[in-house]
Amino acid sequence: VDLEVGARERLPALLEELAPTLRPAVITDRNVARAVTTPLKAPTLVVPAGEGAKTRARWRALTDRLLDLGFGRDTVVVALGGGVVGDLAGFVAATFQRGVPVLQVPTSLLAMVDAAVGGKTALNTHHGKNLVGAFHPPIGVLIDPGVAGSLRSSHLRNGLVEALKHGLVADAAYFDWIEAERTRLLARDPAALTELIRRSVEIKAEIVSADEREAGRRAILNAGHTVGHALEAAAGYRLAHGEAVAVGLVVEALLGESLGEAPAGLAAELAARLGGLGLGLVWPEAVAEEAVLAAMGRDKKVVGGVVRFALPRAPGRLAGGPPWTRSVAESVVRQTLGVARAWLAAAPSTRLPHGANG
Ligand SMILES: NC(=O)c1ccc[n+]([C@@H]2O[C@H](COP(=O)([O-])OP(=O)(O)OC[C@H]3O[C@@H](n4cnc5c(N)ncnc54)[C@H](O)[C@@H]3O)[C@@H](O)[C@H]2O)c1
Ligand SMILES: [Zn+2]
Repeated sequence: VDLEVGARERLPALLEELAPTLRPAVITDRNVARAVTTPLKAPTLVVPAGEGAKTRARWRALTDRLLDLGFGRDTVVVALGGGVVGDLAGFVAATFQRGVPVLQVPTSLLAMVDAAVGGKTALNTHHGKNLVGAFHPPIGVLIDPGVAGSLRSSHLRNGLVEALKHGLVADAAYFDWIEAERTRLLARDPAALTELIRRSVEIKAEIVSADEREAGRRAILNAGHTVGHALEAAAGYRLAHGEAVAVGLVVEALLGESLGEAPAGLAAELAARLGGLGLGLVWPEAVAEEAVLAAMGRDKKVVGGVVRFALPRAPGRLAGGPPWTRSVAESVVRQTLGVARAWLAAAPSTRLPHGANG
């Protein structure tokens, strides 16, 4: 991983070093094409911005376009964008000519701290998100925290939530550091963001390298996501991913508390930390607990019909040891969802962003 403010200026040199004989093809989206410039001179395929681009129709159009442009087995795909472009371009690379190398150049904070590391690529189908994909580790990852300046605030927060999650599951000191530096982080101070990305990438890479195909410990990275994804789906994706995962982290901590795995007060502490990062912690009015439960049942993390959770024990420490996740009776999940919903609705202090905009 190449991480430095201004690193995008070195993109041509890095390609020369990692893939000297290959022809680069850049895949990016419209927002990024407008906001982020690099000195690389190469054919650039631009897709519309947003989750809607992660389709097989788009994959087909991109692979056809590469063939039309005469790209062959000597291609290196440059994925320049957020997690959507990373997943889409990564899957194009995984499949084009039976697989060509990809260089990930994440430009959203979420992609920098999370999506660009770990080698997963995926597309969505009408059955749900990320249901078609491949493991295709990049030949390199180039991260320039300087490009975060043009991100929308909600997209900045999406990345901060994942970083806080990394602290929660693996490093208490990092968890506290994020709280201490939150003003600089929210102001997009490049040095603070660089430090954040460095530590998050380290944590994710360490967990993933020990468990590339998600057999065990990697599941701890799903903290907050079992509930978060279900809430997103039940809300028809009108909720930002970070907002949904923030609520998911709090609900799963409450679940841990009610099962006696987490100390009392962990959920409240998490809520305060998330509030400090400008997360709203809002349970969408129209979403019923039953809808969230039903969505959980459709999640791909369900094993044999039972929902499993990676539950926090304490900041920096998740769910003891193997198998890292535990099943929880549906009645307990239902009850905790009800408690969480009422609690979030009644706790205005956790709903006020501190000086965050957008
Ligand atoms: N493969 C993985 O391991 C993994 C992990 C986490 C998430 N994901 C995937 O990542 C996706 C979410 O990623 P995301 O939050 O980055 O979404 P995204 O790619 O849609 O980016 C968010 C928005 O920010 C814009 N943007 C990106 N960089 C910018 C910049 N520097 N300046 C201005 N605008 C910029 C994009 O155009 C988009 O509108 C989801 O599809 C999710 O499934 C994958
Ligand atoms: Zn996430």
